[in-house]
Amino acid sequence: MKKLLAIALMLIMLVGCFAGCGASNDDTLIMATNAAFPPYEYVENGEYVGIDVEIATLIAKELDMKLEIKDVEFGSIIGGVQSGKYDIGMAGMTVTEDRLKSVNFSTSYANGIQSVIVKNDCPYASYEDFYTGFDADGNPKGVVEGIKIGVQQDTTGDIYCSSVPAEWGFGEENVIRYKTGADAVQALIEGKVTAVIIDNEPAKAFVSVNEGLKIQSTEFANEDYAIAINKDNEELLKKVNDALAKLTESGEIKKIVDKYIK
Ligand code: ARG
Repeated sequence: MKKLLAIALMLIMLVGCFAGCGASNDDTLIMATNAAFPPYEYVENGEYVGIDVEIATLIAKELDMKLEIKDVEFGSIIGGVQSGKYDIGMAGMTVTEDRLKSVNFSTSYANGIQSVIVKNDCPYASYEDFYTGFDADGNPKGVVEGIKIGVQQDTTGDIYCSSVPAEWGFGEENVIRYKTGADAVQALIEGKVTAVIIDNEPAKAFVSVNEGLKIQSTEFANEDYAIAINKDNEELLKKVNDALAKLTESGEIKKIVDKYIK
């Protein structure tokens, strides 16, 4: 009886680990995302939708796997992919040198631009006007007193803006970090920040549903989006890249993008 109990306990622990560790099994592709980023990933009628969600669904199909989406904080995606908690990280995620130290990236499937959202009555025409002046090399000298920039924490917008003015940032002291882009935009509406720097497509989505906001015409940065995959999982990287190539070739990816971006 005791032996049986011990075996039962072991079994329970084993099953618990599989479920709890989130370890990927062969038929489920676990995608970590941050679903507050329209049109790439967001929740509509209680369901995950968006460009990344649809592309990932097709990739999973190509891999003959079931897609499981985990909606987590953006800043925890890379670490979770690195530790093996998630198979892929797909969240309108920009490829950066720093992130490449922790994970591999698939081939890029989209281009992103960091845009600047301000209120309609904002006296500054460009983010360049947020600086006090420029040195002989053309780099900013300082930030105009009172300028505050809102960003989604741990995004490239956050990383760029938090660097020093000499590197075209605004200094950590002038950046306010929010959990989601929508929270940052809310802060802008309430006058807590001068501008929000965020990816262009979400910026357009936020501006379209909030009155009194506009996007400055100058681009803050240009970047590539790709899927993050564990460095040890070369096999998955290859499979995902093959699937992306096939879906690009067949026009499926363009079809999805065109559905969400007019
Ligand atoms: N492209 C930016 C980055 O990689 C922002 C991505 C934010 N994505 C999201 N789903 N919230 O840092």
